[in-house]
Amino acid sequence: MTILPANVTIDYDPATMPYSEHGKAGSILDICLHYGVHLEHACGGSCACTTCHVWVKDGAANLSELEDDEQDKLDGAADLKLSSRLGCQCVVRGDVVVEIPTWNRNYVSEGGGSMNMGSAIPPPRK
Ligand code: FES
Repeated sequence: MTILPANVTIDYDPATMPYSEHGKAGSILDICLHYGVHLEHACGGSCACTTCHVWVKDGAANLSELEDDEQDKLDGAADLKLSSRLGCQCVVRGDVVVEIPTWNRNYVSEGGGSMNMGSAIPPPRK
């Protein structure tokens, strides 16, 4: 699995899965966190936010099917695209390339920062 824009590739052994740390076992989030790649996950992987939103750039057929609850939650994600998925809900079954968006609406609205955008609090106007 390759994660953009950092261009980090994780070569994992499916025999070592599932990790079951966050989200569905073997999900993008699960793999990222197991291998030290930060992906926001405000709800802990329970499909209750959109902070783990990713765009699938390649290998969509190697992900589990989009389920209704994931689709419902994705509808509120910023920068929604046809390639959008929730990293905690889609299980990886082969090679895939995903991009982490630079903006995360829910996490920021809850007062958090973004790993790509820095602090959620804008600088004072001059
Ligand atoms: S971490 Fe909240 S929906 Fe994925």
